[in-house]
Amino acid sequence: MILLHIDPANPDPEALRQAARVLRGGGLVAFPTETVYGLGAHALDPAAVGRIYQAKGRPGYNPLIVHVEDADAARALASAWPDEAERLAAAFWPGPLTLVLPKHDSIPDSVTAGLPSVALRVPAHPVAHALLREAGIPVAAPSANRSTEVSPTTARHVARSLGERVDVIVDGGPCPVGIESTVLSLAGPRPTLLRPGSISVDDLRPVIGEVALPSAAPSATAARPSPGMLDRHYAPRATVRIVPPGERARMLAEAAAGVDEGRRVGGLMMMHADDPRIKPVIRMPDDPAGYASRLYAALHQLDDAGCDVILIDQPPDTPAWAGVRDRLRRAATEAP
Ligand code: TXA
Ligand code: MG
Repeated sequence: MILLHIDPANPDPEALRQAARVLRGGGLVAFPTETVYGLGAHALDPAAVGRIYQAKGRPGYNPLIVHVEDADAARALASAWPDEAERLAAAFWPGPLTLVLPKHDSIPDSVTAGLPSVALRVPAHPVAHALLREAGIPVAAPSANRSTEVSPTTARHVARSLGERVDVIVDGGPCPVGIESTVLSLAGPRPTLLRPGSISVDDLRPVIGEVALPSAAPSATAARPSPGMLDRHYAPRATVRIVPPGERARMLAEAAAGVDEGRRVGGLMMMHADDPRIKPVIRMPDDPAGYASRLYAALHQLDDAGCDVILIDQPPDTPAWAGVRDRLRRAATEAP
């Protein structure tokens, strides 16, 4: 595996050429995006795409997001481009929004897991953008971690999770957004949110009107849910317990008692954690953007500290917090 440092403020053209060559040749390149690190491969080369599933241990039914340089390149990979796509692309690209659209024939079935739709995104990170531009091909990229693990927001997280399974890791520093992109389907009868992210429904509605939520009762006409969202995901090794404000005193006392029995209990706290037996405690920002940008690094850190249990203060139930709450809920889901 080759590690390339590329400064987002001044991306080195020779390093970009090297990484782009590996992508065009069918290799695996992990690279920074504004959300999380992606594990990239040539999206139109089925053998390269197969390597992504292999390296991640990802089930073949979970489709990938295709990353492109700009909206024109995205349009070329969709067989339909509704007016909503045009408006959303203008408003949010480059940025952490993924649009699911009817797929163009050129996209291999392995990218979309056999679905007739494809997920498309134009990332805003300067290194991702420069790399896509240099490579000149669409790049399929899931998060650059082994399946079900916490997504990586630094090159070190990638190296620890995937190591020699990748050809190149491009280190462009920590990812500023910190949680995966918002995924919106435009392939069904109405725009449907498949995965909440830092772009909330409150941001989307002024641009396209009503957005259906995944929690809405399933019906024959509703867009099918995002297959990958059915899994346990984004989960640290430790058992995660979400702490609602009303249960805080009881849950903290109970967890602290567990420390006396030999368990290590850490916390991701928005409020003071009172009991010194709970440590380490990582103090989290009380705004959703600040919280998201630190969330995965904090979970990695508590896993590294050997925590058996992680207590996490439950953030407020508002649209702006939906992405963070979704990831916390998944982190707290027990393995099957
Ligand atoms: O921020 C992100 O989106 C990151 C960076 C690397 O771009 N990527 C990412 O990829 O999170 P991944 O593979 O971890 O998540 C892709 C999500 C999954 O939930 C998958 O089910 C959904 O997108 N998806 C992909 N194609 C789809 C399709 N055709 N229809 C419905 N959902 C789809
Ligand atoms: Mg992922």
